[in-house]
Amino acid sequence: MLKEVIATRFIAPLREGGSLPGLIEADDLGVYALKFTGAGQGRKTLVAEVVCGELARRLGLRVPRLVTVELDPVLGLGEPDPEVQQLLKSSGGTNLGTDFLSGALGFDPLAFEVSPEEAGRIVWFDALVNNVDRSWRNPNMLLRSGELWLIDHGATMIWHHNWPGAEASAARPYDASDHALRGAAPDVAAAAADLAPRITEDLLAEVTAQVPDVWLAGEPGFDSPDDLRRAYARPLLARAAGIHHRIQGLEGDR
Ligand SMILES: Nc1ncnc2c1ncn2[C@@H]1O[C@H](COP(=O)(O)OP(=O)(O)OP(=O)(O)O)[C@@H](O)[C@H]1O
Ligand SMILES: [Mg+2]
Repeated sequence: MLKEVIATRFIAPLREGGSLPGLIEADDLGVYALKFTGAGQGRKTLVAEVVCGELARRLGLRVPRLVTVELDPVLGLGEPDPEVQQLLKSSGGTNLGTDFLSGALGFDPLAFEVSPEEAGRIVWFDALVNNVDRSWRNPNMLLRSGELWLIDHGATMIWHHNWPGAEASAARPYDASDHALRGAAPDVAAAAADLAPRITEDLLAEVTAQVPDVWLAGEPGFDSPDDLRRAYARPLLARAAGIHHRIQGLEGDR
């Protein structure tokens, strides 16, 4: 289970994000970037954040720690911006928090060099989970003290929006032509050799167990949250062995 904290103060909206994430302080005195359960993108975005973030971390990639944040909508009463107030009001209950990396800068592919090895691991991981949101326009990577951190895994695993078609959807290739690290000559073969064998049923069970039941309950076609957790694991297990052969758009780098 993820650590659970209680929001004590809404600090400010993080204006950069499409889903209007917010900055909050919690009862453990930590400061977190908050993704609201009431945001337009819905709770599946939060499930994707947990599954992919916790998986990436276990593969040795840097991901800020994730927590669940209990939010009392009363916190929104003093918020002057009606859009933010509405978001706070509609997000009572369990939300997602990530450790706020203060002082981190947005990654700029032209200003920071990433090794082919590290780029390969990130591109391979993004191919595995079908991340369509790590482009040079919107890299969703932060840089701090010379280290890359991965954030924002909400736009991954497109198959979870249509479970009956999940198997066919997960069999499709990954298009890396817009990937933020395309120009870093990513060594995806080396990454696959190291990482693919680590994607096991046990690892995926551990990862999907981190997702709170409340974001999984009531999904049509599934008897229980655990039933749905297994459905999240299956496409990832199926993709792991061969996905590096199905990454398109990396040829002709630089
Ligand atoms: N843990 C964090 N530490 C520091 N800054 C963060 C963190 N999480 C998010 N941010 C900042 O907030 C911005 C928006 O966050 P994020 O990308 O997760 O939201 P989003 O709404 O899904 O964005 P989009 O869909 O527009 O990419 C990031 O680009 C980054 O600048
Ligand atoms: Mg983002």
